[in-house]
Amino acid sequence: MWKKKEVIPDYITQNVSEDLIKLVDMVKIYDTGSIKVLGLKRVNLTIKRGEFVAIMGQSGSGKSTLMNILGCLDRPTMGHYFLDGIDTADLPSDDLSAIRNRKIGFVFQSFNLISRTSALKNVELPMTYAHISKKAREKRALELLERVGLGTRYEHMPNELSGGQRQRVAIARALANEPPLILADEPTGNLDSASSVEIMELFSKLHNEGATVVLVTHEEDIAAFTNRIIRFRDGNLVSDTPNIPISKREKEELEEPEEPEEPEYQSGDALC
Ligand SMILES: Nc1ncnc2c1ncn2[C@@H]1O[C@H](COP(=O)(O)OP(=O)(O)OP(=O)(O)O)[C@@H](O)[C@H]1O
Ligand SMILES: [Mg+2]
Repeated sequence: MWKKKEVIPDYITQNVSEDLIKLVDMVKIYDTGSIKVLGLKRVNLTIKRGEFVAIMGQSGSGKSTLMNILGCLDRPTMGHYFLDGIDTADLPSDDLSAIRNRKIGFVFQSFNLISRTSALKNVELPMTYAHISKKAREKRALELLERVGLGTRYEHMPNELSGGQRQRVAIARALANEPPLILADEPTGNLDSASSVEIMELFSKLHNEGATVVLVTHEEDIAAFTNRIIRFRDGNLVSDTPNIPISKREKEELEEPEEPEEPEYQSGDALC
């Protein structure tokens, strides 16, 4: 966290790069003392502003390792991570915190809301760190809760909300400082299938409004909502394919002209 009245460098507050994420020969090794574990092996990856991407792979394949690096919660052991054109490798930790607060909104599997604190105050929190006035915070938090369909629930505590509603609050909180990047590690992992679809429809809506969303999922049905699916195996990026999102596919199917029905003939009908 930076200190009050400290000036945040312009390079952090400006959005400069068409390539929002660029990983160049990025390697992550965990050094546990006795052994070294290779978390990610030479990953090269570019994600452009406005993309909607799913990261998939078996347990232990490196998905969370990747998200921690993309979220500036951890640093690559080798190689480079450029976030919005900024090389994060040698940044002082104060600048990294400022980047996290301004450029990234996080959504977690377990929501990570502050209990005994209203939905409104939870959404206000990142704005408090960004030193936004109380009045402006409240106004924006209310707008965000409305945007995620919880405009009437702003006074509710997390334990008075369903799982899907809690995740909506968490998404509103992630949007608080208008970050160019939303990162979500298994955002539907704790939700039933109906709530999962609602949350994915909300991410699709945010994407259609211009947000860049990168999410981790184990489920093909969830990845089907995105525009691009990247798969990892044993720390290697093994496939990277475009995807027609399910909402668009359904729309196209609805718009397709129906096949004319075959006439039914009964035995004995004259065929001429
Ligand atoms: N802090 C750590 N210390 C040592 N090794 C780690 C650490 N975090 C992850 N690893 C190792 O790095 C590899 C990738 O782990 P990671 O957590 O990224 O997998 P994942 O794809 O997110 O798995 P899951 O689907 O189970 O969440 C694994 O071999 C894991 O054991
Ligand atoms: Mg993980």
